[in-house]
Amino acid sequence: MALILEYIALFFIAIYSYLEVLVKMFIPAKRKSVSGDIVLITGSGHGIGRLTALKFAALQSILILWDINKEEVEETAEQCRKLGAIAYAYVVDCSKRNEIYAAAEKVKSNIGDVDILINNAGVVFGVEFLELQDHQIEKTFEVNILAHFWITKSFLPAMMKKNRGHIATVASVCGHVGLTYLVDYCASKFGAVGFHTCMTEELAALGKDGIKTSCLCPVFVNTGFVQSPSTRLWPVLKPEDVAQCFVDGILTNKKMIFVPPSVKSYLLLSNFLPQRVISRLNKMQDVQFSTKFRSATKMD
Ligand SMILES: NC(=O)c1ccc[n+]([C@@H]2O[C@H](COP(=O)([O-])OP(=O)(O)OC[C@H]3O[C@@H](n4cnc5c(N)ncnc54)[C@H](O)[C@@H]3O)[C@@H](O)[C@H]2O)c1
Repeated sequence: MALILEYIALFFIAIYSYLEVLVKMFIPAKRKSVSGDIVLITGSGHGIGRLTALKFAALQSILILWDINKEEVEETAEQCRKLGAIAYAYVVDCSKRNEIYAAAEKVKSNIGDVDILINNAGVVFGVEFLELQDHQIEKTFEVNILAHFWITKSFLPAMMKKNRGHIATVASVCGHVGLTYLVDYCASKFGAVGFHTCMTEELAALGKDGIKTSCLCPVFVNTGFVQSPSTRLWPVLKPEDVAQCFVDGILTNKKMIFVPPSVKSYLLLSNFLPQRVISRLNKMQDVQFSTKFRSATKMD
């Protein structure tokens, strides 16, 4: 009997949630202020990370910028300062747990608690599974997912104490679909989506409703992360547009940020399609790209 009542309650919660979504389509979501907030972004020496940093700089956040590339991360810090923000650049290899813990300690003692943590750094090799070297597979997982654990472990305790903060995960559409020549990358991004989803659930279960989470899942973005990307079904996105969607999503506490948003409908639909149709669709997409580890691009 109790279970039936819970199902009825669930039904009304679902109706309420759909109505809420409907209303929110017409009323713009409230954007939170991040002025004075300490924002840490990994992989902020280039691409989505750098552009996201510049957007938070324009909102007068305090930037802590981590990247393996010294020159590039210092350049991002300089650009943030030109926008009037305080910015600190750190050279951190996010594939090294000890480097992460050491840098996190420095941040906490020299600057303070992080309010918004953006796990963005990523690597991709883009080679056929049997050509992948063991060290490449390890690197993919170290940077694209394990680093999220070490960095979040470092900064979450202070957020928990205050019941305030935001953890943003940069995953990918590759965290929802499988693509040829990206077995390690997709598996790591599935991990990143799982990290975000489980973290969201756990924080809710612990009553930490002041700590928000967001996950960015774009299709190809023209940052140079992969070279000459193209697909027949999706556009190749401008980095600036992706960074804008990402920051808008964080400011409005959006949980899952698909870019373009139509990806969500595609994924929903693909749940109901037979595997044969999905494989055919993947072929139709004619995904092509190269990386510095592989020049061949054709996916068939
Ligand atoms: N570009 C795309 O097509 C695309 C699509 C979906 C998701 N993403 C994801 O977006 C994120 C950012 O990618 P991007 O397109 O801006 O790439 P990018 O190459 O422009 O920037 C990645 C940054 O991460 C840094 N980095 C790499 N390894 C690192 C390490 N071990 N430690 C610290 N920093 C390291 C690089 O130096 C670089 O500054 C990645 O997680 C990527 O998987 C990218």
